[in-house]
Formats: sequence, C-alpha cells, structure tokens
Amino acid sequence: AAYDAEGYTHFMRKEIHEQPAAVERALRGRLDGRFHTAHLGGLDLDPREARAIRRVKILGCGSAYYAGQVGAQLIEELARIPADAEPASEFRYRNPVVEADTLYIAVSQSGETYDTLAAVQELRRKGGRVLGVVNAVGSAIARECDGGVYLHAGPEIAVASTKAYTSTAVVFALLALHLGRIHDLSPADGRRIAEGLRALPGQIEEILRQEDRIAALAADLAKYRSMLFVGRVRGWPVAREGAQKLKEVSYIHAEAYPASELKHGPLALISPDLPAVAIVPDDELLDKNRSTLGEIRARHGRVITIGHTEAGEDAVVVPKNEPELDAILLPIPLQLLAYHAAVALGHDVDKPRNLAKSVTVD
Ligand code: AGP
Repeated sequence: AAYDAEGYTHFMRKEIHEQPAAVERALRGRLDGRFHTAHLGGLDLDPREARAIRRVKILGCGSAYYAGQVGAQLIEELARIPADAEPASEFRYRNPVVEADTLYIAVSQSGETYDTLAAVQELRRKGGRVLGVVNAVGSAIARECDGGVYLHAGPEIAVASTKAYTSTAVVFALLALHLGRIHDLSPADGRRIAEGLRALPGQIEEILRQEDRIAALAADLAKYRSMLFVGRVRGWPVAREGAQKLKEVSYIHAEAYPASELKHGPLALISPDLPAVAIVPDDELLDKNRSTLGEIRARHGRVITIGHTEAGEDAVVVPKNEPELDAILLPIPLQLLAYHAAVALGHDVDKPRNLAKSVTVD
C-alpha cells in the first residue's frame, strides 16, 4: 500500500482493533462515581436548562446518522426525553420547524461533512441550539456549534467508519446518562449504566478475539450477491450500520429492515440465495426475534445471528452488558464481517470505489 497502516494490512482493521483504547479515551474523566452520572466538559447545560429540553433531534449523515439513531434511543430510554435522528442531508432541504425547547445535536467524525454543516448553519440561523458530537478537534462543524463533546477517537483513515461510530455511541450513552440523572434516572440505574460503560473496552477485546471465526464466516458469506440485515428497536440501527459497512467495502448488496416489518413485505424475498443477518440481543424482545428467525428459516433462508443466546456455526455471541448499551457492542462483529468479506473478494478495503472519507461538497 502507498500509505502505512502501522503493522496492520489495512487501516480499517487497525481502527477496528483500536476500539478498546478509543472507548477508554471517550470515557476518560467523564464518569462520576459519586453521583453516578457523567460530566461532559464542553456541554455547558445547567440542570434547569437541561430540564427545560422537551425534545432532542440528532442530525448526521451515513454512519454518523445511524450512530445518532443509537443516541436518540439511549436518550429517550435513559432520560425519557422524546428523541429521534434524521439524516442531516434531508433535514436541510425540508424547511424544518425549529423549536426553542428542542436540543439539536450534529454528529460528524470529520466535522467537515457539508450536508451536516449546512444543517447546523440553517438551525443557527433560525435560532436553534446545536451541540456537536465530533471527532476532529477545531473542525468546521465543531466551530459552528454552540458547544459539544469530542470523541477523542484519534484519526480515522479508512473510508468505512468503525472506531468513530463506536465512540459516538459511547458519547451518546454518556450524554443520556447525564440527562437521565437530571431527569428521572435513579442513582442505582445511573451506577448500573456507568458500570456497564466501564466494562465495554474489555468486552470489545473479547469480541476481537473471535476474529478468526468471523473471518471464516465472512469468507463463506462473500459468495452471496445480496444480504438482509434485521433487528428490532435497539437492534435496528445496528442492522442498518451492519448493512452500510458491508455495502461500502464488499460491494455486496445489503438491505436493512426492522425485523417487525418483514411480514409487511420483504418476507417475499426470502430464499436460500438471500441470507439474513439478524441482531438478536437477550432483551425483552428475544421471543419476538426468535419467531422472526423461525419465519425466515421456514422459507429456507439462511440466518446468521449476532447476539447473546443463539448457538451454532452461524451464530456470533457477544458478551452481555446492560441491555440499554447493546447497540454499542453488537455492531463490532458486523465490522469484522464486512472487512473480511471485502478482503476475501480482493477489494480495496480502505478506499472503496466511488467514496470519499468525508463529503465536503454540496
Ligand atoms: C461511514 O462508513 C461512511 N463512510 C459515511 O457514511 C460517513 O459516516 C458519513 O459520510 C459521515 O461522515 P462524517 O462523520 O465525517 O460527517
């Protein structure tokens, strides 16, 4: 390669393996063991202001948007503030209603994505309050926001985002913990989430130790032309990110669908030629997810599971953490799956065709 991936064959693999350290850095100095909350220096929200927030709207593009969807779920679940994510690229074109009691959050690894920057500028022009969740310090989006939180993930070189995605999800968990402890999250639940966050780096290491097995699975899956990714609620943004990673680096067509929506249409596609990657955490939706898997298998579709309970050759098991944090660990096997499928197919993993690391033009 013309550039140096410091001992790794590719930057994408190096960055996947940097995730335990990146998560450590995202957490460093931010967890408060006394009040079981999180402190985020650049946030500048006093408790009264935080309580006045009626809604949270998260904006980003591509994987930053999917990480934003994880963030919206975390904020709604832990802080009980209505929250959702939207592609910044759509938001900026639809003349959105900007509300004074909504907290807007822009997500970007590079801090230079034009669509996200334009959404922030439009929001600011209409008097919206925007925080940034950004990796690149001093970048255009970071400068344009009213404050925010840096990921501290370190430089991300591969076009396909891995460590920045994971660090974004971790920062949103910290923000949700912070807002939750100002709203109605109990000290006991705050402590439970903080302990879960502290366990993440070691658990990511555990997943990375399964790389050889996942690589073998990926080499086998590389023979398919198309794949389905399904998940419910916390598993849904994970499925979307998994499909995105596979498309970007392996060029295998992948479609993400909410598992609950399969029977409303895409079930017609199921056949031995269309494997489904199913996100099945051991949460309150496990039975529902298992019945979806049954429906796929009954139509002779191959099912690959990413979760805590399923076993067998087509199952990847991740360590269990608090259910609210499931969307942080579950994408990691999917990054490895996409990476090794691309390697098996001989593609330029770090610089996929037609893509730029950040889209800085309109
Ligand atoms: C991620 O794998 C993609 N390459 C892409 O979707 C990316 O996340 C998106 O373009 C946003 O980039 P940003 O985080 O630098 O704003």
